[in-house]
Amino acid sequence: MTSTLIRGRTLSFRRAPESIDDSGAYTYESDGALLVEAGVITAAGTYATVRAAAPEEVMEIDHRPHLIVPGFIDTHLHFPQMQVMASYAANLLEWLNTYTFPEECRFVETAHAERIATRFFDEMVRHGTTTATAYCSVHKASADAFFAESLRRGMCMVAGKVMMDRNAPQGLLDTPQMSYDETRAVIADWHGKGRNHVAITPRFAITSTPEQMAVAKSLLCEFPDLHVQTHLSENRDEIAYTSELYPEAKDYTDVYARYGLLGPKSLFGHCIHLSEREADAMSETGSVAVFCPTSNLFLGSGLFPLRALTRREKPVRVSIASDIGGGTSYSMLKTLDEAYKILQLQGERLNPFDSFYMMTRGNAEALSLADRIGTLEPGTDADLAVLDMAATPAMALRAEVVNSLADELFLLQTMGDDRSIFETYVAGKPAKSTLGTT
Ligand code: GUN
Ligand code: ZN
Repeated sequence: MTSTLIRGRTLSFRRAPESIDDSGAYTYESDGALLVEAGVITAAGTYATVRAAAPEEVMEIDHRPHLIVPGFIDTHLHFPQMQVMASYAANLLEWLNTYTFPEECRFVETAHAERIATRFFDEMVRHGTTTATAYCSVHKASADAFFAESLRRGMCMVAGKVMMDRNAPQGLLDTPQMSYDETRAVIADWHGKGRNHVAITPRFAITSTPEQMAVAKSLLCEFPDLHVQTHLSENRDEIAYTSELYPEAKDYTDVYARYGLLGPKSLFGHCIHLSEREADAMSETGSVAVFCPTSNLFLGSGLFPLRALTRREKPVRVSIASDIGGGTSYSMLKTLDEAYKILQLQGERLNPFDSFYMMTRGNAEALSLADRIGTLEPGTDADLAVLDMAATPAMALRAEVVNSLADELFLLQTMGDDRSIFETYVAGKPAKSTLGTT
């Protein structure tokens, strides 16, 4: 078995930091190393200790002075929206109807879906993102293209064929029966193959009839271990329209609750305007509210109340995501930069340790996958991002006066992007420097 020893400064979180001084929340080695065998981290610690435990013939890669962190995790995005990014719309519903739905119609073509899937995984790797939770389009072909590419690259991905049977162009609609049959087929074809996870994916209440929501419920009853992903409480007009469509529901969250869709593996994109009752329901079921900063600002949806949700008596689990293509950057560094600003506008702070926790271990915990990804702990998969805080001339100049780990992380988050990703490892193999060569 070939072993690789990857040397550099290493940072991995044990738990959420309580403050910027909470050094017990993470492990940092100024001369650290990881031993990787068959795609898995088998030892981590100081270079001296890991080197001593490594086989004699180990291959050594030296990334000093760069910082090695777990690969970033993006918990909500839409892979068929790569060509929707940067579309000029006043709000969510206009953006969906004018740009997004017509673009997603193109994914009926297998060749198009395959081309975009390849480009999608290239962007993930380029930006240091090694796991994403993705919406495909309504077409099964889009899910096939996505999972085939993820399997080929050995990446850990969560994704689903979107279920939608109303309020969209004909080319983007299935039926309750089709959404059941095709989601089952996607599960049979891809779930558990390589590192693929299939998510049950009703787009949102506006585009699913009650009959289709009932199908989502039956799928979850049949496959209770699967993730569920949908959208919730992103925009005021969306909320009002949902209550017209589901007049019997107490509120938007209750629409999903009525179909048994709340739970610890359920991810709800946005959750900006939840009432206290809705936040209680999310908390009681362990459901996850997904914060999508660049998208929320771009579409003018609102300011996600991160602290209000996590500090309440019944805290709501949260994660963070790009929401491509409502989001405006593939970079989780940029995503956290915008999250920081959203908290600033609410008189709250987001310290750099919190940010790096959120895009690694925090998001892994939100996905219930922290036993595999999101840390540098032995026994987990060797998905890594190697970060360079001096990747651009402006960053290098600023880096001259950085004198703590907190400063470095904050510089990376505030000024960094794909250029700061020196290398990305997927299951122990360099993936960024080898882009386009396999
Ligand atoms: N709500 C329903 N579909 C979408 C989508 O594609 N993007 C965003 N941001 N919100 C949605
Ligand atoms: Zn979305």
